[in-house]
Amino acid sequence: MKTALYPGSFDPVTRGHMDIIRRAARLCDTLVVAVMHNPDKRGAMDVQTRVQALLLACADIPNVRVIAHGGLLVECARETGADAVIRGVRPLGDFDTEFQMAQVNRALGGVETLLMTTSPAYASISSSTVRQIASFGGAIEEMVPGEAAALIRAALHSEKEA
Ligand code: COA
Repeated sequence: MKTALYPGSFDPVTRGHMDIIRRAARLCDTLVVAVMHNPDKRGAMDVQTRVQALLLACADIPNVRVIAHGGLLVECARETGADAVIRGVRPLGDFDTEFQMAQVNRALGGVETLLMTTSPAYASISSSTVRQIASFGGAIEEMVPGEAAALIRAALHSEKEA
């Protein structure tokens, strides 16, 4: 595949996201990782910091490009020339939502979605768990990519102070 698009809120990026990014990057010439807005979630970290964290975490993967996009996923896919959208699914609960999103995006813009199963080691990690642990001053290092851990901890700490 030439170009694949991996969209998400990445609030913040976790080791679970990185598992998908590393595996997906092997399947295409270019993997565009897009920080997007999920209207069902109140953002904790600002978009620029989420992009920065991804840039740090993906620095050693040459065919990954990180962008921010404020519109619809189908528009982002068109603008980036993506052949398909990649999404990760964890064993519990993700499939129904992803199935519905994939159907809507195909109907809306002819965008195909490929679902990749999350590696078992990361199945119980989520961005909201990271946010909650950080808000109590707990250690998040095992859950987020090492290169971005300090930035994420500082950003979530300043969000709590605000
Ligand atoms: N391993 C472990 N956890 C994972 C994971 C993996 N491989 N992949 C995702 N997760 C977790 C994340 O940590 C996150 O946890 P949280 O719910 O506690 O925050 C959750 O699964 C999903 O987050 P993520 O994949 O980062 O983003 P999202 O599901 O919020 O992204 C958008 C959704 C942004 C792609 C979607 O809202 C969108 O397309 N927005 C644009 C507007 C649009 O087009 N809407 C119509 C869509 S039909």
